[in-house]
Amino acid sequence: MRPWTNKLLGFGILGLFLVALGISLCFLWPIFFHYIIQKGLFLSPTSNTFEIWNDTSKLPPLLFKVYLFNWTNPEQLGIKKPHFDQLGPYCFREVRQKDNVIFHHENQTVSYVQRRLWYFDAEHTNGSLNDIVSQLDVVALSAAHKIRYWEYEWQKTLSILLSVRKLYTRRTVNELLFSGYSDDILTMGSSMANDPEIPMFDRFGWFYMRNGSTMFDGHLNMETGENDISRLGILRKWNYKDTTKHNKSPCNIIEGSAGEFWPPKRTKDDITLFSVDMCRPLFYEYEKTTSHFGIEGYRYTIDKKTLGNSTKRRYPHDQAKFFEPTTTTENFFESEQITISSNTESMESIFNNHSSEDTDEYSDNDPDVINIGNCYCNGECTPSGLLNITSCRYGAPVFMSLPHFYKADPAVLDAVEGLRPNANDHSFSITLEPTTGIPLEVSAALQANIYLYSSEVVSLYNNIPNIYMPMIWFTLKAEITDEMASNLRILLAFPTVMLCSGIVMTIIGLCLIAAVALLFLAKKQRMVTAPTDGTIEKMIDNPEKKTEVVYMDKMSSNEDDNVKTDRRLYARNLVNVSSENDGMDT
Ligand SMILES: *[C@@H]1O[C@H](CO)[C@@H](O)[C@H](O)[C@H]1NC(C)=O
Ligand SMILES: *[C@@H]1O[C@H](CO)[C@@H](O)[C@H](O)[C@H]1NC(C)=O
Ligand SMILES: *[C@@H]1O[C@H](CO)[C@@H](O)[C@H](O)[C@H]1NC(C)=O
Ligand SMILES: *[C@@H]1O[C@H](CO)[C@@H](O)[C@H](O)[C@H]1NC(C)=O
Ligand SMILES: *[C@@H]1O[C@H](CO)[C@@H](O)[C@H](O)[C@H]1NC(C)=O
Ligand SMILES: *[C@@H]1O[C@H](CO)[C@@H](O)[C@H](O)[C@H]1NC(C)=O
Repeated sequence: MRPWTNKLLGFGILGLFLVALGISLCFLWPIFFHYIIQKGLFLSPTSNTFEIWNDTSKLPPLLFKVYLFNWTNPEQLGIKKPHFDQLGPYCFREVRQKDNVIFHHENQTVSYVQRRLWYFDAEHTNGSLNDIVSQLDVVALSAAHKIRYWEYEWQKTLSILLSVRKLYTRRTVNELLFSGYSDDILTMGSSMANDPEIPMFDRFGWFYMRNGSTMFDGHLNMETGENDISRLGILRKWNYKDTTKHNKSPCNIIEGSAGEFWPPKRTKDDITLFSVDMCRPLFYEYEKTTSHFGIEGYRYTIDKKTLGNSTKRRYPHDQAKFFEPTTTTENFFESEQITISSNTESMESIFNNHSSEDTDEYSDNDPDVINIGNCYCNGECTPSGLLNITSCRYGAPVFMSLPHFYKADPAVLDAVEGLRPNANDHSFSITLEPTTGIPLEVSAALQANIYLYSSEVVSLYNNIPNIYMPMIWFTLKAEITDEMASNLRILLAFPTVMLCSGIVMTIIGLCLIAAVALLFLAKKQRMVTAPTDGTIEKMIDNPEKKTEVVYMDKMSSNEDDNVKTDRRLYARNLVNVSSENDGMDT
């Protein structure tokens, strides 16, 4: 074997190697990329996301905006529709922190509790925390609601207690939100209640005691995605259980994201969020593709699948174990344990008809398809657009909706005055970058309503219309920052970079192979024609040796001088030695 062939062979192999690498980069980059995402996105004590997840105070402040509805004509109830003025926004900077964080490697989950802290932000607030607001008296109504199935005597006693009161109460914004206000009924109630699960609130306020407390959101157990990134962020257990006692089976399943992480490779299918505030999952539906700082994202919104009262849903077959009526509930559920699978047809409604494409694809005989309207109804159903969270709020008749009854049954909106729903301000949405699942924009907006209904026993509520009374709505918006967007863009450019370098490598490799092939051919040509070149012939006698030296010179011309001379000497020596074999080689 002669040295030049060694060299040529080397370059040929290098060329082949580059082609192979280049082509595999072109075709295998999804695997590399997946590997990077798998290793980079799962949650661990050392991952990039951990610090922010653990404590959001280093992020740009999240703005929590609260609006209150001022009931301006409470004396005219029954004569005129209730009229509401929206007050606010009252703004708070929100910080979220985790506590008792424990990673369980054995099942790739993390357990934690969380707290939310709010700091008043006067700069963005319209109004003051001392504004006086007139609202339905939630405490009195809740008390009446709570005891509606109790003995008649109890109800009569309460009726007498309440008879001196009005339907509404005037409080400051601060009292209604954070500081709370005391009420004799609350004091009495907490001394009477013997249910250990009902906290003893001595005051009422929508966020009373919640600031900085970890007891409201409960204990959470979430997947970290360590072995399977597609499970990142999924809530597995809440308060140590995989079902809740707040809804009937199978609507009692703990499922969906805990809200902070979304696995990569998003499709346009629905995504599920478990809301601990509402004790139930919410379903986001794909709406459209939007752009934030030049990054494309899928926008999902809360729509009829969540808000409807007769939505059919196919459950994954492995969740069928939850379909038995396993729910342990408070007494008011027990009256009606329906057999769900045989009942999926029975609640077809007006609402269901205009969402037909989605729902009609399900066969009624499929045992995994459930009308979830039934299991969230608890017997009595709400008009669409309202979610009954009574059982999640210790029996207070609280109904959540989108702000201003956006996307709700028009009759609900028509029963009150002063509300003007619009898509821009009142949507509940999330935009995810589809490749990585990183949120680009989050807008959570909810309104709490109290169901005011007439009661024959409690005189305060005799002969009044049944109305869902809007009380308060709040929104938390967050958007990716410019800096985060640039980092994300770099990550997203990665596949393109891999593809391009794959192509470049393939081209260089092919050029190398072509060059080697050409040189090899040229050499063969020369040997056949035995060319005589005047200048080189003077240096070396043997025409065959001459070509070799010239070749070596050329190939090593990029290297520095030492190497060049070394090589030349090396080449000459070897040429001399091996020249005897020439006859055999060719
Ligand atoms: C709320 O409405 C009442 C009238 O019912 C009014 O006296 C009060 O000033 C209003 N509050 C604000 C902050 O406008
Ligand atoms: C501030 O609140 C008043 C009513 O209290 C309202 O008329 C006004 O539109 C609000 N301004 C903004 C910027 O929201
Ligand atoms: C919430 O708690 C923090 C820390 O204890 C306090 O600084 C802040 O003022 C509180 N916010 C409200 C709205 O009470
Ligand atoms: C994972 O393991 C921990 C510790 O054994 C346990 O507390 C938790 O409930 C488990 N999570 C799931 C989803 O099984
Ligand atoms: C709301 O749910 C509770 C129990 O969860 C039930 O008793 C009540 O009847 C429901 N109300 C309506 C209006 O659906
Ligand atoms: C479901 O919602 C529709 C539309 O809001 C309403 O007309 C219907 O009465 C509701 N169904 C039940 C069972 O309440």
